[in-house]
Amino acid sequence: MTVFPENFLWGGATAANQIEGGYQEDGRGLAISDIMTAGSLNKARQITYIDKNGLPGTETALSGRNNLPQGAHGAVFSNYYYPNQRAVDFYHNYQQDIKMLAEMGFKVYRMSISWSRIFPNGDEKEPNKKGLDFYHRIFKELRKYQIEPLVTISHYDDPLVISQKYHDWQDRNMIDCYVHYAETLFKEYKGIVTKWITFNEINAPLLMLSFDKNAQDTDYQKAYQKLHYQLVASSRAVQIAHKIDPNNTIGNMICGVTNYPATPDPQDVLLTRHTWEKLIYYASDVQVLGKYPPFAKRLWQEHEIQLEMTEQDQEDLLAGKVDVYTFSYYHSSLATTHDSKDQVKGNFAAGVRNPYLEYSQWGWATDASGLQYFLEIIYDRYRIPVMIVENGLGATDKVENGKIHDQERITYYRKHIKAMARAIANGVDLIGYTTWACIDSISAGTGQVSKRYGLIYVDLDDQGNGSLKRLPKDSFYWYQKVITTNGEEL
Ligand code: BG6
Repeated sequence: MTVFPENFLWGGATAANQIEGGYQEDGRGLAISDIMTAGSLNKARQITYIDKNGLPGTETALSGRNNLPQGAHGAVFSNYYYPNQRAVDFYHNYQQDIKMLAEMGFKVYRMSISWSRIFPNGDEKEPNKKGLDFYHRIFKELRKYQIEPLVTISHYDDPLVISQKYHDWQDRNMIDCYVHYAETLFKEYKGIVTKWITFNEINAPLLMLSFDKNAQDTDYQKAYQKLHYQLVASSRAVQIAHKIDPNNTIGNMICGVTNYPATPDPQDVLLTRHTWEKLIYYASDVQVLGKYPPFAKRLWQEHEIQLEMTEQDQEDLLAGKVDVYTFSYYHSSLATTHDSKDQVKGNFAAGVRNPYLEYSQWGWATDASGLQYFLEIIYDRYRIPVMIVENGLGATDKVENGKIHDQERITYYRKHIKAMARAIANGVDLIGYTTWACIDSISAGTGQVSKRYGLIYVDLDDQGNGSLKRLPKDSFYWYQKVITTNGEEL
């Protein structure tokens, strides 16, 4: 007998900048992701720019963070490959892609809207009609198969123009730009889209610094300020969405990393608790409970943070609480106060190797129990419906006689779905699950397509060569069965 509720939302997730392509089509403006070069496990992606003296330059890119030096402006150079510009060309292939999602039996498809397709610079008054129309076509296609869209308003692709002008959310004006954009979407797609997520992995600015040993107080100041402005923007969007259509349900989106103490040393146990506070609860509490938690003062003091926050901000945070707790989950991590040479990385995370876990080709720990732990602890704290909106394995695939036997991915999913079932049996109100990604796409971290997450294979390599032909992997058929049996057959 399955424990999954009858109307459980099975599906998959993508982000516009990682699949769409069409980066200059129909009036779209440049996004920050368009000036990011390709990288690899050991080679960081770069942002390319022209500096204040007119000279070309590059700077290490971190997804979601704009590192342009003062006075520089982002630029595209012909001697670099920018994988997000064409990505896997969903822009021209969406019909066949959505058809394949329908074949798997998707109930929901998590996607994001490219902000610069709607507002090319990010701060125009009037939206770009052709951009709005593109998403009308997508929603129409989804409706044809009764697939519900779950739309992320901002997923790591801020328009380049405002991102530069407002120094990556260091200016309060960014809030108004975002709110205007979000309101435009709520009005335009009223009755067509009712499930929304405000920001992808809003806790990313803090996560990124947690593994940057050279991070200075000034970096923390920027991260906390950016996060505050985004939290306010999110809360204002939630209020507007509820007002425009009471049927709208809005989720936050947290990068969910489960932290354990590396040793039984009480100092490690305490550090683990504080890691949860800083990286998970700090942003989650604001979005779910409407105000900063008591430990926020300690966190700010640690780096002498002076937050620019108004009374109106605080009222907005309280009035704009989310309806659903949504999060991504890929792996767990260990916290320790002891030195260790055996360091590992993860999704915005770094720590000590856990000897009880296996690690992926890209060094991420596979830990399905960590998902169960995260679900249980989060539901216990917030008691609102929970949804996993990203979970998957990035691994290389081999095409053999037109087939892709991605058994490792199936095993990964099987373990995690079993963990979800255990959490449900333990009382968690888990309402849905979207795998990352349903289709091979450009890795946010490395810019590679060879770090494949899809249930659908795309013929493309890390230099941009390939026919872009789509092929169902073995995991495609396996997931189809999972959905048909509502999680009974794993
Ligand atoms: C999440 C992001 O952090 O992890 C996705 O929301 C991203 O955009 C996913 O693709 C997997 O990370 P990566 O770096 O392997 O693409």
